[in-house]
Formats: sequence, C-alpha cells, structure tokens
Amino acid sequence: MNKNGLGLHIVFTGAPGCGKGTQARILKDKIAIPHLSTGEMLRAEAAKGTPLGLEIKALIDGGNLVPDDMIIKMLSARIDEDDCKNGFILDGFPRTLPQAEVLEEMLSKKGITLDAVIEIQVPDEIIMERILGRYACMTCGAGYHDKFQKPKVYGVCDKCGGTDFYRRIDDNRATVQNRLVNYRALTYPTIPYFDKKGLLRCVDGTGTIEATARKIDDLLAVTKPQ
Ligand code: AP5
Ligand code: MG
Repeated sequence: MNKNGLGLHIVFTGAPGCGKGTQARILKDKIAIPHLSTGEMLRAEAAKGTPLGLEIKALIDGGNLVPDDMIIKMLSARIDEDDCKNGFILDGFPRTLPQAEVLEEMLSKKGITLDAVIEIQVPDEIIMERILGRYACMTCGAGYHDKFQKPKVYGVCDKCGGTDFYRRIDDNRATVQNRLVNYRALTYPTIPYFDKKGLLRCVDGTGTIEATARKIDDLLAVTKPQ
C-alpha cells in the first residue's frame, strides 16, 4: 500500500517457468495495475542493440543474472512512472538478497510498503516442459504454450489477431539448467528472507493456469480485500 493506505504492491517470485509472467498478466487484466517484468524490460533494452543492450543480451542468453545496480536503477525509474501510482505487480524482481534489501529501502523512500510476495511453487521436472514449449506473440507479447496454452485459432493470437510469434533464445535446455542453478543459489535465499518478514504467500503452481489464478485470487482476497 502507499502512504494513504491504498493500492496493491506485490511480487511474484519462483523458479524460471513457474508461471510468474502468465499469472501477472491475468491479474493485471483483473485489477488494472501494471505488470513490471524485469526480464521483459531487459529484453527490450537488449533488442536496441546498443553496447549496454549487447552486454545484457549476452548475460540473458547464457542464463546469468545482470548486475544488481543496473536492474535496481531501471526498476526504480519505472516505479516512479504515473501508471504505478495505484500499485504494481513485480515479476522477476527481486532476484538476489541485495535486490530484496534495496527494494524495501527504495519503496520506503517512495512511501510504499509491500503487501505480499507470492511464490509460485513448481518442481523442476515440470519447469523444463513449460519453458521448452513456450512462445509469444510478436505484436502484443501474449504468452502461449505448444501444449498447455494454445491460441483458439491455430497461428492467430487471441489478444490482437497477430500471426507472427517468437521463442526466447534462453528457452533451451542448457540455458534453463543454468537458470535453475542460479535460481537456487541467488534467488531462493530471498524466500526465507520474505518469510521472516511475514510477507511470503506460497501457491501450488502445478495445476492448470486457471486453477493457479483462482488460488492467487483467494490469497489476495485475504491479504487485502479489494
Ligand atoms: P525472466 O524473463 O524473468 O525469466 P525467468 O525468471 O527465467 O522466468 P520465465 O519468464 O522464464 O518464466 P515465468 O515464471 O514468467 O513463466 P511463464 O509464465 O512464461 O528473466 C530472464 C533473464 O533476465 C534472467 O535469466 C536474467 O538474465 C535477467 N533478469 C531478469 N530479472 C532480473 C533481475 N531482477 N536481476 C538480474 N537479472 C535479471 O510460463 C512458462 C510457460 O508455461 C508458458 O508457455 C505458459 O503458457 C506455461 N504455463 C504457465 N503456467 C502454467 C500452468 N499452470 N500449467 C501449464 N502451463 C503453464
Ligand atoms: Mg516471465
């Protein structure tokens, strides 16, 4: 909430491919607060092909994290934008303990406190299949899956009617293995950190997309009545 006790400020966390982006997009459409994905922000910067973009691209393509100071600066500026005044859904941030510590400090300077950190729990065996089957609309970014989330009409985006799709370069078996190693070593320690602060809410993410979304709705209704 912000200093007037309003708004919803939450974090989606969990292993790569657990469904953070999928659930954040569903929630954003329901409650009309922005979805801030640091992965998407970084991919947009990488696509510019600037020296900084190329540096970011090499890190992402190898399944490694970008430096904390770079991501923190980028996120702080994004939170200051007008559309975040009623809250936001953070997806993929914080991803290290230093990022978690800086987040609280940064938000407190802006008069904001986090309402909840939602961990979507999915075992590694399921993750690989989810990531290797993932693709997205080139025009609007809507996410799909070869098996679990097909468009209603083959080859046509449900959201915008686009017919061009792409797969992420880091969505290959070797890079996913490295992303999982980095998740365990660098991101997982943020889970007990938020638990100690009473902010952690865990959701079983092994069911369907719709079932997981319902669990998140139930949990948020308890966290903060809308
Ligand atoms: P990022 O883009 O955040 O990647 P990630 O954490 O690896 O997570 P993903 O986007 O792969 O998975 P997701 O949980 O969003 O799953 P999704 O909903 O798509 O980051 C990419 C890179 O950027 C990082 O590796 C790092 O280099 C860098 N980076 C980003 N943030 C950073 C930070 N803070 N600090 C430093 N570096 C940073 O779902 C996956 C698939 O499964 C989809 O196809 C979907 O349709 C399907 N699916 C989802 N839910 C279900 C379900 N319940 N049942 C069946 N299928 C499902
Ligand atoms: Mg994502």
